[in-house]
Amino acid sequence: MKILVVGSGGREHALAWKLAQSERVQTVYVAPGNGGTALDTRLVNVEITDPAALADFVVAEHVALTLVGPEAPLAAGIVNLFRSRGLKIFGPTREAAQLESSKDFAKAFMQRHGIPTAKYQSFSDAAQAHAYVDANGAPIVIKADGLAAGKGVVVAMTLEEAHAAVDHMLSDNAFGDAGARIVIEEFLAGEEASFIVMCDGKNVLPMATSQDHKRLKDADQGPNTGGMGAYSPAPIVTPAMHARVMREIINPTIQGMAKDGIQFTGFLYAGLMIDSEGNPRTLEFNCRMGDPETQPIMSRLKSDYVTVLEHACNGTLDAVELEWDRRTAVGVVMAASGYPDNPRKGDVIDGIPAETAECITFHAGTTLADGVLKTNGGRVLCVVGLGDSVKMAQKQAYDVVDQIRFDGAQFRRDIGWRGMK
Ligand code: AMP
Ligand code: GLY
Repeated sequence: MKILVVGSGGREHALAWKLAQSERVQTVYVAPGNGGTALDTRLVNVEITDPAALADFVVAEHVALTLVGPEAPLAAGIVNLFRSRGLKIFGPTREAAQLESSKDFAKAFMQRHGIPTAKYQSFSDAAQAHAYVDANGAPIVIKADGLAAGKGVVVAMTLEEAHAAVDHMLSDNAFGDAGARIVIEEFLAGEEASFIVMCDGKNVLPMATSQDHKRLKDADQGPNTGGMGAYSPAPIVTPAMHARVMREIINPTIQGMAKDGIQFTGFLYAGLMIDSEGNPRTLEFNCRMGDPETQPIMSRLKSDYVTVLEHACNGTLDAVELEWDRRTAVGVVMAASGYPDNPRKGDVIDGIPAETAECITFHAGTTLADGVLKTNGGRVLCVVGLGDSVKMAQKQAYDVVDQIRFDGAQFRRDIGWRGMK
């Protein structure tokens, strides 16, 4: 059968790589894909991004199933469109994707359904927002309501930073419509984890746990990014914590959406903050897999993912039990010069070794032109190492990172450090 993966990042490369391993698959198309999906002989890049044109392509090529990576097409309603044309697609509808596409929607939803999260209030008036900041003090967190490609959150450690963030979003209109409304919320301390499940509308199937590294530099210093590396599993999510998150966050979210008249299908990703007493709270919801979390997670998945996706589209995820590699996977992101503010494109990339059983290099912002691989975006590669401990997985990943060269490459040396405590 033929499968289509929508997107062009490292997440989509990892999903397509995994799907292509299935004996049941003839072709995996990636739209639009990247330099890595172009190089992989089992994958075929398709230069289409418009959802209606993608649906036409799926009909013409008899594609059996479509999997969507990024949030933007989901929020724009690609699942609604495909389903209206009778095409099989895994993801949330536009309505369900509001859990990610509007922070105000997500916060009101969590409050209504008693799902643990930071205290908050929403504002579209700058004077009222400033007054709320003064009344609550710093640290405090300011978030643009809409999708802002990972740039819409300011964790303000001082009142000055908080007021500046309010002005930037509400008065300077920095994010356009996405920032015309903001959420101001309580600062939560603790350790983060990514908790990702698949939902078919009724059944919930948890993926392996993982932990991202948001800051650009070692020891969690420097600016926030889309994620500089991730590892799986995350030891902070013990079996007891797993059960608690399912009971207090994931199940109430799926049931709450149903009560509100929205059937949830697709990936549900709860970004958790776990405090020093072990209480999990939801920082945010995403309605897709994480990037870079997908790269280590898919590297550990042993089950045939095509079969899993079929069950997900047919509402029979209760029949699936996922099998995971017992090893730890550590994924190190190599980013371009200037990332995250102003990534440079066009640097030639050399030295990527062939995949082994211990190390896979997934591409993100890369492009292949006339046989030359060049940087083409902020996060360029994600090198995933597998090993019997975090330390051994790290060694596998960094041995390969050290062989790869492109000008201005930025990466952290400490991915996985919390897992070694
Ligand atoms: P979000 O996109 O909402 O996950 O926010 C991006 C990052 O900002 C999170 O991964 C956290 O590191 C940080 N963050 C968001 N909300 C809070 C909060 N209420 N308290 C502390 N840090 C936060
Ligand atoms: N790695 C964080 C995200 O995908 O949102």
